[in-house]
Amino acid sequence: ITSESITVGGKTYATDTFTNVTPTILEKTTRQLHLIPSHPIAIIKDLISTSFPDFKHYDKFSPVVTTKENFDDLCFSDDHPGRAVTDTYYLNEKIMLRTHTSAHQLQAMTESDKLLVTADVYRRDEIDASHYPVFHQMEGAQLFDTKTAVEDIRKSIAADLASSGASGSINTTDTTVITPENPKQDCHDEAAMLAVADHLKHSLNMMVRRLFAHEKDLQVRWIEAQFPFTSPSWEMEILYQGKWLEVLGSGVIKQDILKNAGKPDKIGWAFGLGLERLALVLFGIPDIRLFWSQDERFLRQFEPSQIQKFKPFSKYPACIKDISFWSNENFHENNFCEIVRDVAGDIAEDVQLLDEFVHPKTKKRSVCYRINYRSMDRNVTNVEINEIQEKLREEVVKRLKVELR
Ligand code: PHE
Repeated sequence: ITSESITVGGKTYATDTFTNVTPTILEKTTRQLHLIPSHPIAIIKDLISTSFPDFKHYDKFSPVVTTKENFDDLCFSDDHPGRAVTDTYYLNEKIMLRTHTSAHQLQAMTESDKLLVTADVYRRDEIDASHYPVFHQMEGAQLFDTKTAVEDIRKSIAADLASSGASGSINTTDTTVITPENPKQDCHDEAAMLAVADHLKHSLNMMVRRLFAHEKDLQVRWIEAQFPFTSPSWEMEILYQGKWLEVLGSGVIKQDILKNAGKPDKIGWAFGLGLERLALVLFGIPDIRLFWSQDERFLRQFEPSQIQKFKPFSKYPACIKDISFWSNENFHENNFCEIVRDVAGDIAEDVQLLDEFVHPKTKKRSVCYRINYRSMDRNVTNVEINEIQEKLREEVVKRLKVELR
């Protein structure tokens, strides 16, 4: 983008040296898959929200946020890698596309003690069947009065268990152990913090139990994790078809955030999960690009509030092309993938580093990438792919300042 301003959602932003959003990415901000009731992303969102019946649900926040909202307010350090221009889409130095729904935690918490946020989020990434630069997250948080948290939580869990006796058992080890790597916040009372951790795990165990209702004995495990905005923190994993699948990140909210939200006397938990990852396994969808398909053969398969297995339509043949060039010190794979996305759009199925070597004399690094082109809904012709590949070769030289081999 070379123009001096960009318009997103009717608002205009000045560009600068940080600007790295592309028209292909900005187009995605208009799609709002989580608001189409018969779309798998919205179906999973709706099913999850039934586990949090009296939570206020925000699902129309703009994807354009400040770096303060996405990072600073959430206690990210100034040198946190998530801020890098190679990982994040910037409109300019101060304005970006959110990389997670946590960007709205603070605002939502000033208004509500029980909240959900669902939204499209943006991250620069590699290209394959499970990565896409736009995906959807759902955030949840619940706050308690610090003074009465232990008692309130004990009652709430007991009531929940009494009323959901039929929802099936869950196989999990969730004794909360606090370690130096995953510490309690100094300001927190240990009993209150442990109660909040119990409530967090209990609530999310119930949620996945409902979501995977067809799995007879679902195995769940809680792994220590690290997030700038929670402590202690955990990731939840579930055993699905023999593999541990990371489902969500969570933890006890950093007290500074609650102070900034005007709620210093509360204590609470938060979680964030990726909707695509769950939809891929629950619907049996083989490729993340399908969520963006406008093909009726995809869209017509689903109905609101129902999980049904995806029936694949024929896979069209792939067209494989390689590109080799001498890279330079500024080269980053995500920048290369961005150009592929931009030139080829969703026809780019997979990008793999095939080969690399350093020239013994000149010490220059040569890389060879293999690009798999395939459309989800039609046959691609060799002529058309050759044109795309030619355009890619031009753009790579122009934008990355590398030398083709
Ligand atoms: N925002 C985190 C992510 O995108 C997930 C998270 C949300 C973790 C809330 C803890 C609490 O990975």
